[in-house]
Amino acid sequence: MKVLGIESSCDETGVAVYDTEAGLLSERLYSQVAMHAEYGGVVPELASRDHIRKLVPLVREALSDAGLTLNDLDGIAYTSGPGLIGALMVGASVGRTMAWSLNIPALAVHHMEGHLLAPMLEDSAPEFPFVALLVSGGHTMLVQVKAVGDYVILGESVDDAVGEAFDKTAKMLGLSYPGGPELAKLAEQGVPGEYKFPRPMVNRPGLDFSFSGLKTAALQAWNQSAQTPEDKANIAHAFQEAVVDTLAIKCDRALKQTGYQRMVVAGGVGANKRLRAKLDELRAEVFFPRQAFCTDNGAMIAYAGALRLAAGQFEPATISPKPRWSLETLTVLPDAV
Ligand code: KG4
Ligand code: ZN
Repeated sequence: MKVLGIESSCDETGVAVYDTEAGLLSERLYSQVAMHAEYGGVVPELASRDHIRKLVPLVREALSDAGLTLNDLDGIAYTSGPGLIGALMVGASVGRTMAWSLNIPALAVHHMEGHLLAPMLEDSAPEFPFVALLVSGGHTMLVQVKAVGDYVILGESVDDAVGEAFDKTAKMLGLSYPGGPELAKLAEQGVPGEYKFPRPMVNRPGLDFSFSGLKTAALQAWNQSAQTPEDKANIAHAFQEAVVDTLAIKCDRALKQTGYQRMVVAGGVGANKRLRAKLDELRAEVFFPRQAFCTDNGAMIAYAGALRLAAGQFEPATISPKPRWSLETLTVLPDAV
């Protein structure tokens, strides 16, 4: 079954073709990062308009890369939430309309399910069950994954998402947008031990996170420093250590609580090298998708959609994108993989 996947939940337009027999056939991505950089963050209306401009040309390119025409497609999967409503509307309208005109099924995909199944696109795919750490610009979550669609949220951030905390701290230190990767780069030059920030909520039971206090601690340290390049790098280092340590402590706790020995890391912050190194120290098998599958992309949507379409799921010819949508409400696909 050949499925076209469309991702347009935030500031990346992603398109891919996944074949349930041959694997990923093609993938195209357009990032709006440069456009939003001027404003220091994603401007929702500009994001929607840019998805409109880029989506159809990307679909043409992805099909041509795969050596296919529209008539070769057996299904279409598009991100239906969570995300920016205007941006989601673009992918949903294009995807659903194409499916209707081609008389093939369409499927609304949960963006976070896409992220947590992304490691399955790799040759060494994890088996179920596992614990997933989802760390992106909008979400920080630990999820117990028993099967496709069988998800229990073990913990999540009560305030800023981890990527958001990276971005806000980076902005405050004067780094360019999006600041997460910039801050991570600067942290490599920092001297360990010059600053020490708290590991929020680790002394309390449970698996929830809180990152906004850490951002404030970094701001205070910066304001009280001489604001030299060394101070900046040292604060970036201490901030990253605090975040990574906190995530690792909670991951360890989630593995113990579930009794699982397998973990999957997904979402943009999953690209962070220090986080990868730290999680590799856990007593578990840890799977990281390649960087391009960590950040938003069409391949993960094509894949998640293909699993569900291949299992016979389809939807009526209507769209209902959801800016908020709980992972725990998805239908379970026990024998999908
Ligand atoms: O999953 P993603 O591409 O988009 C969302 O769905 O949010 O994640 C983007 C987030 C941004 O906050 C970005 O700063 C962060 O991931 N990020 C990083 C790194 N690379 C991306 N944060 C820390 N270290 C990195 N190397
Ligand atoms: Zn994402």
